[in-house]
Amino acid sequence: MNAHIVLLPGDGIGPEVVKEARLVLEAVAKRHGHQFKFTEHLLGGCAIDATGTAMPDETLAACQAADAVLLGAVGGPKWDDPAAKVRPEQGLLGLRKGMQLYANLRPVRPMPALEHISPLKPERIRGVDFLVVRELTGGLYFGARGRKGTGEDEQAFDTMIYSKSEVRRVVKLAFQLAKGRRSLVTSIDKANVLESSRLWRQVAVEVGKEFPAIKLEHQLVDSAAMRLVTHAAQFDVLVTENMFGDILTDEAAVLAGSLGLLPSASLGDGTKGLYEPIHGSAPDIAGKGIANPVGTILSAAMLLRHSLGLEKEAQEIERAVTLALEAGQHTADLGAKQPLTTSQMGQAVQQRLG
Ligand code: IPM
Ligand code: MN
Repeated sequence: MNAHIVLLPGDGIGPEVVKEARLVLEAVAKRHGHQFKFTEHLLGGCAIDATGTAMPDETLAACQAADAVLLGAVGGPKWDDPAAKVRPEQGLLGLRKGMQLYANLRPVRPMPALEHISPLKPERIRGVDFLVVRELTGGLYFGARGRKGTGEDEQAFDTMIYSKSEVRRVVKLAFQLAKGRRSLVTSIDKANVLESSRLWRQVAVEVGKEFPAIKLEHQLVDSAAMRLVTHAAQFDVLVTENMFGDILTDEAAVLAGSLGLLPSASLGDGTKGLYEPIHGSAPDIAGKGIANPVGTILSAAMLLRHSLGLEKEAQEIERAVTLALEAGQHTADLGAKQPLTTSQMGQAVQQRLG
């Protein structure tokens, strides 16, 4: 098959991990006779430096025209001034919104070989295999915000706002995904306090009626946070609003052993998607060649699955990652005594393809 993939390396360790994912994609294309065309564009802090804006129009246009987008990470101390008018994160949020990618899929399936790396007891991790579906273009991230007043009376506000249709489409996707899994959807909210959560829960119940074979449960976000580190194996598909999902998935990364391992896919109504590791730009280790590329490589596998329909090739990458990690080929974040570099880790995956 022919496909055009846009690469957005971004900032910090972004370029290092995207490079390895690209090499893995090229190796897969070669093995299976696919033609992938890659083009690189600016997003985030590097785009601010070059053009004055975090998401140049040219970048959005290229992403909209491509079959799929693979992103590294954005942000860093250089652009962290709280008074700054342009911020790298605006690029990422603008792209998610601009491509109408309202659902962010974050699968969490800790590998038995890495059980000892998590600070949690092995019995809390065993059997864990869930998928977080995070709403991505609404809620606190996109509601009205601002400042008013002066001096000690100065106020700041952000708004959590959702329409029924925004909730419905993402909850529906969660139900559809649960069909191919263990048929359980946990909708996470704060309905004992927030009106937006009461609307969320109401819509979740409505959608649930369309899927009689799928069990729906509701859980408050605070108790869900606790259950994630006590009984995570009970979860199948979790669906939640934007910021709850952001926070819960960093917590969930502890189950897997490292933030560097987890991939994500951001999807809308079509097959077009944005794929990125859930970690940030890690400025403290940027440029050292020691970042873990696995989260990005697994994101590339999700790209093959969800945007290009190449399930077999996606599984081939996932299997290669598992084999490499099981063989003890680990980067520094996994506590290795003699850690692999970023590119050695990428090569280890490439060698195990097929
Ligand atoms: C993530 C990140 C982003 C988010 C930041 C960089 C804006 O934390 O993808 O989880 O909060 O969505
Ligand atoms: Mn996050």
